[in-house]
Amino acid sequence: MKKITIAIDGFSSCGKSTMAKDLAHEIGYIYIDSGAMYRAVTLYCIENGLFEGKSIDLEVLGRRINDINISFELDAETGRPRTRLNGKDVEDRIRTMEVSSRVSIIAAIGFVREALVAQQQAMGKEKGIVMDGRDIGTTVFPDAELKIFVTASAEIRAERRYKELQEKGEKADFAEILANVKERDRIDQTRTVSPLRQAEDAILLDNSNLSLSEQKAWLLEQYHKIAAL
Ligand code: DC
Repeated sequence: MKKITIAIDGFSSCGKSTMAKDLAHEIGYIYIDSGAMYRAVTLYCIENGLFEGKSIDLEVLGRRINDINISFELDAETGRPRTRLNGKDVEDRIRTMEVSSRVSIIAAIGFVREALVAQQQAMGKEKGIVMDGRDIGTTVFPDAELKIFVTASAEIRAERRYKELQEKGEKADFAEILANVKERDRIDQTRTVSPLRQAEDAILLDNSNLSLSEQKAWLLEQYHKIAAL
């Protein structure tokens, strides 16, 4: 089997991370959650007072962007990666509604994207990587051998996110989550830098009515088809 690059893009909360993580684990590849990187920069901005309402101090962020260090460390217990920001574990803090509702603002800033895309490309230099996000197949790895574009209805995605937050014991309001999912779709698709779109050579996967195991089997089949060539 040859080592390939796998790009998984799509709308928020459609289970991209879970499928990408499971696939990487199954085939022994590195898994990188690029959304976690945008979330970590957002958390940095919140914690360092760079937000004023919905606007951001671009000058200070521009000066500090190269000092924001994001890395991943495997959790020995779960075997899943945990995000670190300047050496500190921030995995739980980057998943809160506070970060979710502001991350699109950060992800629309050109110099933030440039810095993170460069880091992502460096992580994938040796191939053998599964990366999920919004612009992986279009901008980060346009030459990826396997590109998947995932989608599901906004209601189904909001329901999944609602259950996830409830399971973690976080306060969850379905209407608020649904509005957040739709708003993020809108911002992700209409931003000027690297908007979310399906790469021409990506395979479309609508997982609204697929179980996790059906999806996993489908994904493995796509991988084997290409890696065996
Ligand atoms: O996948 P996620 O919900 O954790 O992503 C968080 C945000 O980051 C989302 O609003 C879109 C943005 N993002 C992006 O613009 N480009 C990526 N490659 C990954 C995420």
